[in-house]
Amino acid sequence: MNTTEFNTSGRVAGKVVLISGAAQGMGASHARVLAAAGARAVIGDLQQEAGTALARELNNSLGRTAAHFVKLDVTSFEDWTAAVGAAVDIFGKLDVLVNNAGIYTPGNVEEASIEDWNRTIDIDLTGTFLGMKAAVPALRRAQSSSIINVSSIAGLTGFKNRAAYAAAKWGVQGLTKTSAMDLGPDGIRVNSIHPGSVETPLTAGLKRGFGQVPAGRAAQAEEISSLVLYLASDESRFVSGAAIAIDGGETAGNNLRQDS
Ligand SMILES: NC(=O)c1ccc[n+]([C@@H]2O[C@H](COP(=O)([O-])OP(=O)(O)OC[C@H]3O[C@@H](n4cnc5c(N)ncnc54)[C@H](O)[C@@H]3O)[C@@H](O)[C@H]2O)c1
Repeated sequence: MNTTEFNTSGRVAGKVVLISGAAQGMGASHARVLAAAGARAVIGDLQQEAGTALARELNNSLGRTAAHFVKLDVTSFEDWTAAVGAAVDIFGKLDVLVNNAGIYTPGNVEEASIEDWNRTIDIDLTGTFLGMKAAVPALRRAQSSSIINVSSIAGLTGFKNRAAYAAAKWGVQGLTKTSAMDLGPDGIRVNSIHPGSVETPLTAGLKRGFGQVPAGRAAQAEEISSLVLYLASDESRFVSGAAIAIDGGETAGNNLRQDS
């Protein structure tokens, strides 16, 4: 599916968004869709070359300063502070934070290495906390602001062979609900999204069947971006503290049970 198939014009016009892990995969798709819908996007990632190229592509194709790349390691509070500062300095404010950067490590509690556990918690969970911590003062100053935390269906149900990843993604859900309560009075909405299987570089090497998915397939990144667009826009102004599955029905029930 192509982003131009969405009629997104103006849905986030004037909003400034900061997206972590936006140089490739779903984050890059979110940047494309939000910019096409009128936002100005700060693209944060470790990957300087790909991130800069994406910002250039968006600026050229949209004919305006629609995007700016910043080098961001989500485990560094200093980097986060600089990324929020760039949004405010270059675009004047920050309305939306998309905590998208994440890694996946496999293994149950016996097999997962302590190093993988620490790295996964650092990036997927602590990175989300640090992003919110750095962004909240600027978000509080905005008219109507939104934090979108990218969890996973592994943060909605039990998931075999993903001890560190599932713990981090469940942590993201808990942090989201708590923060929705804490930040609601400041006009900041906080929601988590829980994608199922999505075709991105992260999943390119994974062997997966789709019998457990009622839709029978993986999602394209743009299909997840349409939910991010809704949560970034004021159309979702009464949605906060929600954990939204976007998984082709995968967590609706046991799709493999064959009783007749
Ligand atoms: N692909 C899926 O099926 C799937 C399903 C559910 C949830 N998710 C989640 O969606 C998010 C995006 O996943 P994706 O599939 O697009 O992954 P991806 O690997 O294609 O992209 C992740 C991006 O994050 C960046 N990144 C990694 N570590 C970083 C760090 N420390 N600081 C800053 N950036 C960093 C990478 O450079 C990359 O650009 C992740 O949080 C992932 O856990 C993915």
